[in-house]
Amino acid sequence: MIRIKNNNTGNNRVAFYYEEDADLGELPKALRQTFTGEFLQSFLFIREEGAVLLLGLGRKAEDRIRIKELAAKAVKEMKNHKITGFSVNVSKITAAAGIDSIRDITEGLMLGPYEQKHFPEKAREEYDIVLTGLKDSEIKSAEQLVKETVSIVEGVIFARDMVNLPGNKLRPGDFAAEIMKFLKDTEVSAELLDFEALKKSGMGGLVSVGESSAFPPLLLILRYLNDPDSREITALVGKGVTCDTGGYCLKAAGSMLGIKGDMAGGAAVTGAIYALAKNRRKTNVIGFLPICENRISPGSLVPGDVITSYSGKTIEIVNTDAEGRLILADTVAYAVHKEKVTRVLDIATLTGAVVNMLGFSVAGAVTDSQEFFEDFRAAYRASGERYWRLPVFPEHEKMIQSKIADIKNMGEKYCGTITAGLFIKAFAGGLPWLHIDIAGTAWVDSPVFEYQSGGATGAGVTSLYHLCSKDRPEDQIQSKDWKEN
Ligand code: BES
Ligand code: ZN
Ligand code: ZN
Repeated sequence: MIRIKNNNTGNNRVAFYYEEDADLGELPKALRQTFTGEFLQSFLFIREEGAVLLLGLGRKAEDRIRIKELAAKAVKEMKNHKITGFSVNVSKITAAAGIDSIRDITEGLMLGPYEQKHFPEKAREEYDIVLTGLKDSEIKSAEQLVKETVSIVEGVIFARDMVNLPGNKLRPGDFAAEIMKFLKDTEVSAELLDFEALKKSGMGGLVSVGESSAFPPLLLILRYLNDPDSREITALVGKGVTCDTGGYCLKAAGSMLGIKGDMAGGAAVTGAIYALAKNRRKTNVIGFLPICENRISPGSLVPGDVITSYSGKTIEIVNTDAEGRLILADTVAYAVHKEKVTRVLDIATLTGAVVNMLGFSVAGAVTDSQEFFEDFRAAYRASGERYWRLPVFPEHEKMIQSKIADIKNMGEKYCGTITAGLFIKAFAGGLPWLHIDIAGTAWVDSPVFEYQSGGATGAGVTSLYHLCSKDRPEDQIQSKDWKEN
């Protein structure tokens, strides 16, 4: 639990210091030999009244990522010393970065101690953290920001938990059930299309991938329609492959995210919709999650096959491991034709190419809509996630033209992330469309940032939330140390 109190009552506490003499001056001289206030440097000492953790702010704590890292580091250090109750004086951070930084502090404090579930399950520790050092006039908005952020981070944690679950503990049916359970007490209504319904409605992509497994495919639709004054409906389409072996184009062993974490897009959509509903945001969003496995069975796809998608377009299968775009194509077409959405965002762990290109901290974005991208950019800069827009030109579209069908599911050896995105665009019916490839950012073997732990990151949840939530925080991601183009 995170609470706000003006006067410091707790015994254990965290104090931040700048790398400047003026700030460090109040510390004993001997201590300043070891603790210099460098960014993320920590020093803990125990006094009779309790533990004091000194944490370095560096030169300036101004961007969202750094603030989240500081907060995460604070709670991790306390966790290492088995301290679960403490206060954090946030005054220096809010003075430098504004009251909105309470969001980042809350996020960091909640995510810092996160660890993957252990089997058999062990209970997670509860933390009791008090934020101090706020002005009386700031307390009300700080309390609101904490409350809003708690729901968002619950969404992030749900996404992490789903992605971290082993494939044999999360079959398509389990994933759908977990999502519906998670959304039970919210105003989100869920509709589940089963295998029979998918076959009947002609979802050739989702059906032909999903029938590779004994655990049948599903389409889960999550409706959160809470803005009667607007006709705009954003479709959030999230890839939900609970196990991607590659099919007959079998993957090499050892690709953990490629295999069990291939539903991170669907998990991100769920987390974002949960937070929107919890915070009763005035917005219209429908989540669409095609959920299935990609395996080898007597009837499963092989290269050279041709299938007919929900849209009526035929698809030549070049590689059975490019299954995500097949199930997303059907789902995007379904969202456009059946649900009358007005713009479409799809999010997926779609290509290894994006990992080679952008690594584990930056996700790829593909769109032909400047307006949609600007809106998304404002959202991700408010969230503190990193994305990079890739170019799309007519020559890229040519790469997925097929000789024997309307389109093929793989292009050349190069531009793999762009052609994957453009494949999905072909099914978006000309609506504003934005494709996000989180294959690199959804999973980190070793954490890039302090607020991550090895495994799933919950990528996408916060940015999708801010995209759909109208009054988002100001863009604060620019830092003096680096610049986004
Ligand atoms: N789920 C994978 C993409 C992936 C790879 C995610 C590594 C996370 C880590 C996707 O279904 C896939 O296998 N894509 C292929 C596409 C190719 C065959 C055109 C890829 O990227 O290799
Ligand atoms: Zn695949
Ligand atoms: Zn996949």
